[in-house]
Amino acid sequence: MADSSNGSSSFWTQGNALLRKNLTFQKRKVKTNIRLISVPFFLCLLLVLLQTVINHELDKPENRCGCICVDAQCHQKNCGIQYSDLDQVSSCPIPNPPEWPPVLQIPAPEYRAVYTDVIPISDLPSESCRRTGSCPVTMLLTGNNKSLGEIFAGNMLKNVFTRDDSDILDNLASNVIMSLKMIQGSESKTEISNFLDPAFFSDLPIYNLQSQCTSNSTFSVDVKETNIIFRQEVRCAQGLRLWRNSSYEVNNELFKGYRKGNIEREINEIVAAYDLQNSNGNNFNISIWYNSTYKNDTGDQPVGLVRVPRSLNLASNAYLQFLQGPGTKMIFEFVKEMPKPETQLRLDVSSLIGTLFFAWVILQLFPVVLASLVYEKQQNLRIMMKMHGLGDGPYWLISYAYFLTISAIYMLCFVVFGSVIGLKFFTLNDYSIQFVFFFIYINLQISLAFLVAAMFSNVKTATVIAYLVVFASGLLGGFLFQFFLEDTSFPRGWLIVLELYPGFALYRGLYEFAQSSFTGNYLGTDGMRWGDLTDSTNGMREVLIIMCFEWLLVLLFAYYVDQVLSSGSGKNPLFFLKKIQKKRPSTFRKSSFQRQDSKVFVQMEKPDVIQEREKVEQLLLEPNINHAIICDNLKKVYPGRDGNPEKFAVRGLSLALPRGECFGMLGPNGAGKTSFISMMIGLTKPTSGAAFVEGLDIRTHMDGIYTSMGVCPQHDLLWETLTGREHLLFYGRLKNLKGSALKQAVEESLKSVNLFYGGVADKHAGKYSGGMKRRLSVAISLIGNPKVVYMDEPSTGLDPASRNNLWNVVKRAKRDRAIILTTHSMEEAEVLCDRLGIFVDGSLQCIGNPKELKARYGGSYVFTMTTSSDHESDVENLAKHLSPNANRIYHISGTQKFELPKHDIRISDVFQAVESAKSRFTVFAWGLADTTLEDVFIKVASGAQAFNVLS
Ligand SMILES: *[C@@H]1O[C@H](CO)[C@@H](O)[C@H](O)[C@H]1NC(C)=O
Ligand SMILES: *[C@@H]1O[C@H](CO)[C@@H](O)[C@H](O)[C@H]1NC(C)=O
Ligand SMILES: *[C@@H]1O[C@H](CO)[C@@H](O)[C@H](O)[C@H]1NC(C)=O
Ligand SMILES: *[C@@H]1O[C@H](CO)[C@@H](O)[C@H](O)[C@H]1NC(C)=O
Ligand SMILES: *[C@@H]1O[C@H](CO)[C@@H](O)[C@H](O)[C@H]1NC(C)=O
Repeated sequence: MADSSNGSSSFWTQGNALLRKNLTFQKRKVKTNIRLISVPFFLCLLLVLLQTVINHELDKPENRCGCICVDAQCHQKNCGIQYSDLDQVSSCPIPNPPEWPPVLQIPAPEYRAVYTDVIPISDLPSESCRRTGSCPVTMLLTGNNKSLGEIFAGNMLKNVFTRDDSDILDNLASNVIMSLKMIQGSESKTEISNFLDPAFFSDLPIYNLQSQCTSNSTFSVDVKETNIIFRQEVRCAQGLRLWRNSSYEVNNELFKGYRKGNIEREINEIVAAYDLQNSNGNNFNISIWYNSTYKNDTGDQPVGLVRVPRSLNLASNAYLQFLQGPGTKMIFEFVKEMPKPETQLRLDVSSLIGTLFFAWVILQLFPVVLASLVYEKQQNLRIMMKMHGLGDGPYWLISYAYFLTISAIYMLCFVVFGSVIGLKFFTLNDYSIQFVFFFIYINLQISLAFLVAAMFSNVKTATVIAYLVVFASGLLGGFLFQFFLEDTSFPRGWLIVLELYPGFALYRGLYEFAQSSFTGNYLGTDGMRWGDLTDSTNGMREVLIIMCFEWLLVLLFAYYVDQVLSSGSGKNPLFFLKKIQKKRPSTFRKSSFQRQDSKVFVQMEKPDVIQEREKVEQLLLEPNINHAIICDNLKKVYPGRDGNPEKFAVRGLSLALPRGECFGMLGPNGAGKTSFISMMIGLTKPTSGAAFVEGLDIRTHMDGIYTSMGVCPQHDLLWETLTGREHLLFYGRLKNLKGSALKQAVEESLKSVNLFYGGVADKHAGKYSGGMKRRLSVAISLIGNPKVVYMDEPSTGLDPASRNNLWNVVKRAKRDRAIILTTHSMEEAEVLCDRLGIFVDGSLQCIGNPKELKARYGGSYVFTMTTSSDHESDVENLAKHLSPNANRIYHISGTQKFELPKHDIRISDVFQAVESAKSRFTVFAWGLADTTLEDVFIKVASGAQAFNVLS
């Protein structure tokens, strides 16, 4: 062992040790990692394949702008709208878009404002006009100067309509020269693009707005645009201009026009309202109200244009005529779309079905992190590390950073790969948004894994449940959550509630990315940009905020749960309220004291045990630095469950161990040895009593004790994929060994437990035999010069040679430290231990060095003789003859064992007696043995148990 004195290791040393171990561990999992990373790889590949197939389908001529061949061999083709059918036309180029007369948006006759008792506005027409469809369309005016307003209103509409064939609509297609005499209006809604204005291509009539309608003002015209001809009806709509005293009144009236439900009596729509404000001869200041929702907005498509320009032109013209007289005109000839190049039908599969796939890909990390965390818990490795000095801080920091790195690399591969093969989902959306989103999400996911890991102790269960959750989250997201998302009537508030579930938050984020890239791809624009986050329909912002908060909360909560639940520290759930914590044990202690003291009196302690107790009391009064371990009346009571009485596992144990001593704990199974060790290594808390290790109290300073403690647990706690050397390097680093000292210590340690030669040290611990694992565990417990070492049955399963070897190690190791060792091998106890205690039913029955014990409890020879069963009584007589106090302790089919007090007999007498017996009857075998420790053990154990049964 290295003799260099090493203090307790720092935060960073511990972190370094854990990090190096994790990296080695990770290196071993290459196959698993490749499998993990290949999942997104294959999924992306699948998407690309699908995309190729779909692109191929879309690229067929029937999906492109129509063409016809000019010559027989089809060397030359003419393409364009005129050769296309309705399916193809949308992809044709439109180099010269048609010009359309500007149209005013007019409410349908059944919605136009009328006087009703619900909306009693006296200057509106009576309701009866709705039946004949002849209601006038209303415009409202207001401003500071009513007389100006009236002149203005008069200029807006012509009084009489005269049908003038030179400028009616059928000229539209060829020569667009629109007369200002007609103000067209339509109740049709605008479309996404106005290449074909729906006003002229729908079943709805075109309205001709006049101040007064006459009988001949309804007629039909043919509208022709390229190869589409539509017969359109032109009707008259009378315009009603009403003055209101203030914009307040206008607002009020407009609001009443809002369609609540479909009760017709409550609908009162107007065309537009004009506020002239402070306009006068020198100043034209107008604001126009119009209905901005009057457009075909089906939700999943971009909105159409709103018909505002005509309204503005109307007002400008009216003002101009007020200034310059009736002859003046400001001609508004046409509105026209921008030219459009030939487009291809494009469908981005990754955006369309990617959301669910990508959600699975990302969620997949969750079981991986969880399994890794639960593995350390299941194998008790976390506690093992803790017992060798790994603090919670470094553990959390390094584990978290470790999983974060793995997740980040995974996500990076995913995004880079997706981008390289050209998935629009990745390439169109801003990478910085993707980075922020994915980064926050993986953090949240890791925190969740830490939290959930506290609930599982079995890797298989945890993994299976986690995969189920992943699968279900994806499906629920895809088929339930998305349904709610797209249902505009679903309350937004509930969506946010749903998004509190991280799986749905992830789904929402991916969904937004997909939507942006889909429309971006469709319209040939960009995907999501930071600016889009301010858009109220974009859920990305709320998702980011939710995930950020959740991440912090979950992380804090996970840490808290870990502190409360992890058996290493097992803090009170209210550990941060120190005061409460202090009160509780003291009250508890009192009651358990009273209950047990009666027992102690009944069960009279042996003088050696009493002496040890006195020594402890003495030591507590006058502390002595020589003693590494002092246990003062340590008790452990397990509360009764299911109607069973309380179980006293340890009933007041007092023990003082100086440095350099190896104390052997013997006892039958279930005697309480393991409970005792568990308390000493901090796995459980004592019910009452105290113990001090190197002067530190195990109830309050366990973390300090861990840095000078070594444990060889009963079951080997090893990482299957790490080698013996790596185990020792890790624990050595935890114990603050560095550089060459570490290397030397590890090598010596490997040599001492016979794991150095033949490449054993560099084999995976999972491939070790039981004995090799045992030896490695012992080596781990001794590395780094711990001051106290607990060994729970260190030599079980070892062959005699290895066991001898191990004994030598322990003998050498005990020189400057205290060792507590439990064993079932009396031979081992005799060889290794300076003192022994026999522990039965929760208390020490005797304590002392092996020789003393043998002398005290032995003091007799065991005489064995085997004869035929006929001569059993002869043998008994023989024994009685040798010593009248002979006591038969064993008897079965001719073999009998007797205890002969040492002071009664001489060995030569026994030989003589046997010789003479042999002459009388046949003796198959005989023997005489000194008492062994085993006899002492059996005697003490059975004596104590018999006593307990009686009491
Ligand atoms: C209102 O407008 C009319 C017409 O321009 C003008 O003659 C009159 O002076 C204005 N009244 C006020 C109070 O400005
Ligand atoms: C508007 O003002 C005029 C004159 O100031 C008044 O006679 C009329 O009642 C007012 N109209 C309303 C609806 O308040
Ligand atoms: C136009 O009217 C608004 C509202 O009355 C007023 O705030 C603004 O100053 C006016 N502008 C001019 C140039 O008079
Ligand atoms: C505006 O138009 C929409 C139809 O697109 C209609 O539902 C709504 O009631 C109208 N609002 C007003 C105030 O007329
Ligand atoms: C809105 O546009 C879609 C096609 O884009 C059309 O099918 C639908 O009939 C239109 N709805 C109205 C109310 O104009």
